[in-house]
Amino acid sequence: MDFKLSIASEIAGAIQIAFGDESMSAEEIASYLSVPPDTALGDYAFPCFRLAKALKKAPPMIADTLRDALEAPYLAKVESVKGYLNFYIDRSTYAREVITSALDAGERYGASDIGQGKTILFDYSSINIAKRFHIGHLSTTMLGNALYKMYTFLGYDCVGINHLGDWGTQFGKMICAYKKWGDKDTVERGGVNEMIKLYVHFDKEAADDPALADEGRAWFKRIEDGDPEAMEIFNWFKQVTLKYAEGIYEMLGVTFDSYAGEAFYNDKMGRVLDELNEKHLLIESDGAQVVDLEAYSMPPCLIVKKDGATLYATRDLAAALYRKDTYDFHKCLYVVAYQQDLHFKQVFKVLDLMGYEWYKDMEHVSYGMVSFEGQALSTRKGHVVYLEDLLNTSIEKARAIIDEKSPNLENKDEIARQVGVGAVVFFDLFNNRIKDIDFWWDRALSFEGETGPYVQYSHARCCSVLRKAEGEHAEPNYAALSDPQAQDVVRMIEQFPDIILSAVERSEPSMVTRYSANLAQAYNRFYFENHILDNDLGVRAARLLLTEVTRNTLKTALGLIGIAAPERM
Ligand code: ARG
Repeated sequence: MDFKLSIASEIAGAIQIAFGDESMSAEEIASYLSVPPDTALGDYAFPCFRLAKALKKAPPMIADTLRDALEAPYLAKVESVKGYLNFYIDRSTYAREVITSALDAGERYGASDIGQGKTILFDYSSINIAKRFHIGHLSTTMLGNALYKMYTFLGYDCVGINHLGDWGTQFGKMICAYKKWGDKDTVERGGVNEMIKLYVHFDKEAADDPALADEGRAWFKRIEDGDPEAMEIFNWFKQVTLKYAEGIYEMLGVTFDSYAGEAFYNDKMGRVLDELNEKHLLIESDGAQVVDLEAYSMPPCLIVKKDGATLYATRDLAAALYRKDTYDFHKCLYVVAYQQDLHFKQVFKVLDLMGYEWYKDMEHVSYGMVSFEGQALSTRKGHVVYLEDLLNTSIEKARAIIDEKSPNLENKDEIARQVGVGAVVFFDLFNNRIKDIDFWWDRALSFEGETGPYVQYSHARCCSVLRKAEGEHAEPNYAALSDPQAQDVVRMIEQFPDIILSAVERSEPSMVTRYSANLAQAYNRFYFENHILDNDLGVRAARLLLTEVTRNTLKTALGLIGIAAPERM
């Protein structure tokens, strides 16, 4: 039962009876019903000043009259306070309705089909070839993954794109270095590290050997021209990088539908240049071709360099046109750090100037930086935390905690992996994405407070309670859920579908992360305040049902942010 809508129709009915007015529909009334911040003020409140104009009466008078006309079996009381109507739903009806609707929906509680027929593109993770993942890559990967899962849950068709950074003169240098000093086995074995070594070696030698720099450029030219030997080595570099990336994606449980990256658009750039020319948007500036954006208080968007090379922005323009043609997206989200705010503003503006209305359907989902235990990350100063090291350390630490807390647990390795990775991901997705994050081990891995392990542990606690009562079938006495702790849990369960909608609307997975921590806390207060496996079978059955919907909801919430929910810990 949808309390909001049904209270709204009660109000509409009462207005009709008391004032003979039908100007406001139940839907409109429902949109004005709010949830008071303090439950002492009721479950829903309706501001009667919304009616004052139509009824030509003072709000307190309207509220008094409606209060007397209102009557519904599920309402425990209705109060008229200073022009507001406050609705108090009968506690046990409320618990029964929320719990049964959540149980009926099962794993789909909170899901919907509002997205049916609409395609959403996610450009996330988007790693660079021949580079290692550092802790900063975690946010784009996990934010993108979470949004992908949430949109899918709401019925949208989702396409996850890893827009590979696989274009640039550095790849010419790398091939050149490989031809001179590299060997196949070493690169296969050493992977990305070995490629980086080759690159560093090249740069060192090229510093006093200009001929070498020319050779590097010549190799890049060969990539541009599609020369078979250059392409073979280059594609193999890509494969080696992707194999390394696969290992990390597997740990994180992330997958992609497309790896079309910058190189993919190499033969699709002509169209961008032609259109920009036709639309008289390209101007020359110091030998380069740019789109002037001064009127929009932005520096020019560089399209072709003096030497004829295209740029990152050119490839993003080509990618946007290609994606619109190929997927006819409803929305295209770019999950990329805030350092690229300007880049995306420029790209979107250029599309706007090209006359593509759908530029409005593109959104830069930007996020802040990650530092590590108080230290900013910098490659130059050598303070880099690689993601695989971070995840592995976290798994080890989780394993040590589990060994101590639950020495007899089965599958300790698998659970340590779920807890270790979950702790890192939870920490990353806990705050508003635009905030900078400072990662601390003890804060991420604690079993108390707002952490991944805490939420996972609470889920496992629900599982354990339910195991003890497996097979029981008593008629639940919902009045047993009238205490404030139980009611808090019920209220949070009721809010879950709205939380997902808001998280998607704001591209803010942290709303679900926080929600999971709040629900876990609310459940634990209920758990410590009440004896779940009470001797009274009706009381016991009601408390078990609340435990069951909590377990399901925690599991769904964790799943949406990409975290596993082990049943035992
Ligand atoms: N590879 C880029 C980087 O590491 C991110 C690419 C983001 N996606 C895009 N379409 N520009 O900075």
